[in-house]
Amino acid sequence: YRFYRALAIESSCDDSCVALLESDTDSKITIVDHSKSTLSSSAVGGIIPTEAHAFHQYKLANLVSEFLTKNAIDSKNPPDIIMCTRGPGLVGSLAAGLQLAKGLSIAWGKPLLGVHHMLGHIMMAVHDSKSLQFPFLSLLASGGHTMLVLLRSAVDHEIIIDTMDVAVGVSLDKCGRELGIRGNMIGKELDRYVQMISPQEKIEFDKWDISKRKNNPFDFQLQLPLKRPDLPLVPDTIQFAFAGFQSSLQHVRKGKGPSLENDNNTDKKFIAYRLQELVFDHIIDRLNVALKKHGTNSKEYALCDSKFSGINDLVVSGGVAANSRLREKLNTQLKSERYLGNNFNIHIPDVALCTDNAVMIGIAGIEFLKASNLVNDLSILPIPKWP
Ligand code: KG4
Ligand code: ZN
Repeated sequence: YRFYRALAIESSCDDSCVALLESDTDSKITIVDHSKSTLSSSAVGGIIPTEAHAFHQYKLANLVSEFLTKNAIDSKNPPDIIMCTRGPGLVGSLAAGLQLAKGLSIAWGKPLLGVHHMLGHIMMAVHDSKSLQFPFLSLLASGGHTMLVLLRSAVDHEIIIDTMDVAVGVSLDKCGRELGIRGNMIGKELDRYVQMISPQEKIEFDKWDISKRKNNPFDFQLQLPLKRPDLPLVPDTIQFAFAGFQSSLQHVRKGKGPSLENDNNTDKKFIAYRLQELVFDHIIDRLNVALKKHGTNSKEYALCDSKFSGINDLVVSGGVAANSRLREKLNTQLKSERYLGNNFNIHIPDVALCTDNAVMIGIAGIEFLKASNLVNDLSILPIPKWP
């Protein structure tokens, strides 16, 4: 195709989403329209897979139908291709979207392309910043993933750092819940809660040492994971670890339980603030180790290569990239100048486009098509765990 229109569907978790995009000869992508509806899980405190499956079956067809009417798309004026998230995600949720996409593909006689959800998060950021070119680094920080990926093209990726246990989003959600924070997306509510703590209070809070429980009046202990002095300076494999944050809070919950329901409780403020800081300090710390290991100017260290040579960009995406404090820390605490030079840039997409949406599936699908020219047949299945 020289010019084509793509209809994109995303339903991997608890958002029913649809988008219409145009791609022209120079592969300039235009977002024509998009729409989204999210299952509310605040009452139950988390996403229940069967509920999410039911939600998509109830919602998605109507959402798409209204969207098609609004954009005057029908069998006489169909899009040229249907793109749909194929994984990773909840199997029922994925299947609901994929079945609808297959139906539209049959009805309109148009090809179907299954898209990787995480490629969507990455490519969203690429689309958002005009100057970005391969190769670049991508930090994915979502409810399902926390990884640093080196992208040489839309279809050539290398995972540099992965998490050894849970993803950062899940960890923030669980920690927030232990701290008595409620809402549909607890990580986001925790962000909002910490933002409401006054700068003076934060300065006071920063004065306390939390490496040992007895060193602060809040009876709170937390340390940067994987930071033992006996570990080599630049280990062979660099990993994230977030599960420890949750376990440290279970202790707090036992001791302070009911008082944490009060947002003005000083213990709650202190712990929420220092915890979120440390979670992001851990991310920055690991990124700095990776820069040290793979950066161009890192030859002074043993075990280092120059794998990141020629890289000038880091893209940050996934739901957690919406966090204002993480954005700030990345911009101020990354030792990129030291290891990759002064031309290094950080790109973070619009907050609204960091969380799940169908625009990113359309963009990733278009980029994938450009790089591979492959489409799928109607027998494809969802891939709940897709590396
Ligand atoms: O990318 P996403 O929408 O879905 C997945 O693919 O996982 O990410 C959802 C995660 C949730 O854990 C949510 O709590 C977290 O992103 N999140 C945030 C913020 N907004 C969403 N975490 C911290 N600060 C935010 N502002
Ligand atoms: Zn996502």
